[in-house]
Amino acid sequence: MCGIVGYVGPRPSQDILLAGLARLEYRGYDSAGVAVIDGDGALGMRKKAGKLAVLRDSLSDAPLADGSTGIGHTRWATHGGPTDVNAHPHLADDDKLAVIHNGIIENFSALRAELLADGVVFRSETDTEVAAALLGRAYADNGGDLQLAFRSIVNRLEGAFTLLAMHQDHPGLVVGARRNSPLVIGLGDGENFLGSDVAAFVEHTRKALAIGQDQIVSITPDAVTVTDFAGTPVQPEPFDVSWNAAAAEKGGWSSFMAKEVAEQPEAVANTVRGRIQGGQVVIPELDGLDELFVGINRVIITACGTASYAALVGKYAIEQWARVAVDVELAHEFRYRDPVIGADTLVVSISQSGETMDTLMAVKYARERGARTLSVCNTQGATIPRESDAVVYTHAGPEVAVASTKAFSAQITALLLLGLHMGRVRGAIADASVDVAELAALPEKIAKVLESEQEHVTELAGWMADTRSVLFLGRHVGYPIALEGALKLKEISYIHAEGFAAGELKHGPIALIEPGQPVFVLVPSPRHSALVHSKVVSNIQEIRARGARVIVIAEEGDAAVLPFADEVIRIPLAGAMFEPLLAVVPLQIFAMALATAKGLDVDQPRNLAKSVTVE
Ligand code: F6R
Repeated sequence: MCGIVGYVGPRPSQDILLAGLARLEYRGYDSAGVAVIDGDGALGMRKKAGKLAVLRDSLSDAPLADGSTGIGHTRWATHGGPTDVNAHPHLADDDKLAVIHNGIIENFSALRAELLADGVVFRSETDTEVAAALLGRAYADNGGDLQLAFRSIVNRLEGAFTLLAMHQDHPGLVVGARRNSPLVIGLGDGENFLGSDVAAFVEHTRKALAIGQDQIVSITPDAVTVTDFAGTPVQPEPFDVSWNAAAAEKGGWSSFMAKEVAEQPEAVANTVRGRIQGGQVVIPELDGLDELFVGINRVIITACGTASYAALVGKYAIEQWARVAVDVELAHEFRYRDPVIGADTLVVSISQSGETMDTLMAVKYARERGARTLSVCNTQGATIPRESDAVVYTHAGPEVAVASTKAFSAQITALLLLGLHMGRVRGAIADASVDVAELAALPEKIAKVLESEQEHVTELAGWMADTRSVLFLGRHVGYPIALEGALKLKEISYIHAEGFAAGELKHGPIALIEPGQPVFVLVPSPRHSALVHSKVVSNIQEIRARGARVIVIAEEGDAAVLPFADEVIRIPLAGAMFEPLLAVVPLQIFAMALATAKGLDVDQPRNLAKSVTVE
């Protein structure tokens, strides 16, 4: 994971780097560092274990001599623990060359052995220092040409990497290379930027260039050059960042997560906008791409974590509306077996960041096997959409908190749109007007849940601060929401939580129920299926009979749940496929409130990083 920023221009770079790192800290926050070439052409470096604030304090106590060429890094440890020494940058060529890295160099042991035999002395346990030493040696072998040096080493590195480097003999130049890890260019006026994503520089420019796989980039204040690994010039793809720096600020909110939960009506509305025409769903990005959906016999949706739960909701919707079989596959399982896929399979990947390595590898694998590929992504210029035949962007805006909330809602929304779009293209839906009206009404209904249940759920979480375990049950599209409710709770409150399909209860999990065990139950509307509703009510009775403390999420007016519920959280009436977008909101609020009651940092939970760019 790790966040990377680079700057060349007329301004002192240190503050620009620190501000960029602050926006990238969601990518990893166990250590951070910067290197700067100062006005006298000397390279200064500072790196510290701990959150960015530790580095910031160290720099304000004892500033580096500032200069206008710099690189900065925020780390999520892979090789070597989170210590000062293992933090980036790593230095080579007698400390004149500084290197930062995102990714994993899989053959680092062999390279390290080769360099040790060559007399190199390593200071850290990281794979990055191996790349730095290799680059240092290549720099000398290539007469001090940093680009040539990069070109000569990149093909020796196996795995995933974005590497940035600068050398004190070349002030005003930062060189980078990327393979399977993200890197974008920010174009300023007399200054240029590199970043793991546009958040690194959006405060300074919204003009960006996307760099492809296996490319090398050099930035100076006035020029950007990109080549492939063989040195052939390539034209990077320009794009404008659609959001501004304020969108990635916390504003007056207590946390990014609180802000992002509250932004869900807007995230859903923005994702729907421009995709409804004449009472039908028409996704303009998919114009002329009907062949993606016609003649397929199967859809596989692949994703990780929260995105995979959005995928599960998508399965129900696409099967219902487009009448094609849909399987959901965790991306990291998908390519390590021998799945039956081919030209008649559509592989849909879902990723907020567009950089999740497991998902990226699944997409590449699907393409190699001849499948059609489409991604649902929240990040412009990201790798996964670039590797796919088509993309449907979610328009949730930047999501900074590690735990996904508004991106999840936007992913479900995009999948609902995709299901209706596919249904129309495949001739499976004659009239989508009811569902289109449901889509349009969603933002207001989500806003209503936020307004009516915030206080109630927060209070509930306050009472439960000492709880050691919480269970979540759902059926049909409520099942993925039960999984998501459990994931949200465990990742930010560190409380054991499990989500189950309610029907599965009696096949094992009911053994967990003991007096006082809190269980959230998502109750589907009886208007959609009286049968499924009655089954869930029976499940509630079964756990209640064993002493569970039952917290029910049910639609307004559903009185059947009242005799068996300790608490009832109400959501507005909605169509079956649309209920997940309402039911998830109280669960997000609950997780956030419980973590807050325990005094935890909801934005940066322990051991996690937002963008998981290692397998
Ligand atoms: C949990 C969470 C993760 C991500 C997962 C995939 O709150 O955010 O489970 O959903 O790591 O990330 P993306 O969507 O960026 O591929």
